[in-house]
Order: sequence, then structure tokens, then C-alpha cells
Amino acid sequence: MKNDRSARRGRQEPTTPPTYDHAAVAAILERWQDVPGNLLPILHDVQEALGFVPPDSVNQLARALNRSRAEVHGVITFYHDFRQQPGGRHTLKVCQAESCQAMGSRRLTADLEGELNCKLGETTGDGAVTLDAVYCLGMCACSPAVMLDDEVIGRATPGEVLARLADAEKEAES
Ligand code: FES
Repeated sequence: MKNDRSARRGRQEPTTPPTYDHAAVAAILERWQDVPGNLLPILHDVQEALGFVPPDSVNQLARALNRSRAEVHGVITFYHDFRQQPGGRHTLKVCQAESCQAMGSRRLTADLEGELNCKLGETTGDGAVTLDAVYCLGMCACSPAVMLDDEVIGRATPGEVLARLADAEKEAES
């Protein structure tokens, strides 16, 4: 809606089309309308539907939820799970919490970063995998643990993780 000042000047509202699926976000907002504490589930649903939470969607979310953009942005950046850019075809999360660290997750992370040629929080150049940190997968007895897409791998080694990733890529191609 135009504010009074822009209406007086006859100025047009910006008509730049959204760079994301505006309708998909609107449908998610409608689904969670009137549910208390709905911001987190909405963000999860947006990420599941679009693969990430587009920075351009923050305005739409804030307006619909009657929150400030800073507040919505703050929640998105606070939680590691929310991605602000499209991810790779696969997601590989390497546990960085205490038990896994004690069992070598730092070394595992460094080896995977070297093999995949990308750092935590980045996606490989071929778009195959996004490497992320996670803080406890509930598999402390089998540390170090990683999660490849929906599958948790305990007592993970770089070789096994890379082999599973190659399998996942083959499966996706077939
Ligand atoms: S600390 Fe890594 S799975 Fe619990």
C-alpha cells in the first residue's frame, strides 16, 4: 500500500518482481497463520519448499508476521540450519560438538574440506554437496558422526563418507 507521502507525489511503488517463489511463501504463511510461535516452523517450511530461505523473502515474512525485518533476519542467521543461498544436491553435516571433537571430528572436517575443496558452510564448485557444521546428532556413542542428507553415519572416516557421497550421487543420476 502506498504511504501518504508517495501517494501525494504520485510515485509508483517498486514493481521489481521477487527473486523467489513469492506464492509458495504466501501459502506457507497462510498455513501457519494464527499459530503461536510460528516463525521457526515457517522458516523450516520455506527452506524445505525452496531449498533455502531467500534473503529477499525477509520483507514478506516480516510484514505478514508483524515483526521487524531485523528480527526475522536475526532468527535466520542465529540458527545454523537455515541457509540463505541454494544448497548443493546433497548436504553433509559434520558434528562439531564435544564428544565428536574428542574423537577427531576436527581432523575429519579438515580432511573432508580438503577432499571436497570447500569449507564448512560452502557448496562444492560442481554443486554436488554443501558442507555444514552440526552440533550433536544424538550419536555421541559413535563419534565422530556425520549426516549425509537424511542418513547418519557413525564412527565416520573420510573414506567412508566420500564413498557414501559418491553412491548418493550415482543414485541421483540413475
Ligand atoms: S557430539 Fe557428535 S553426535 Fe553428539
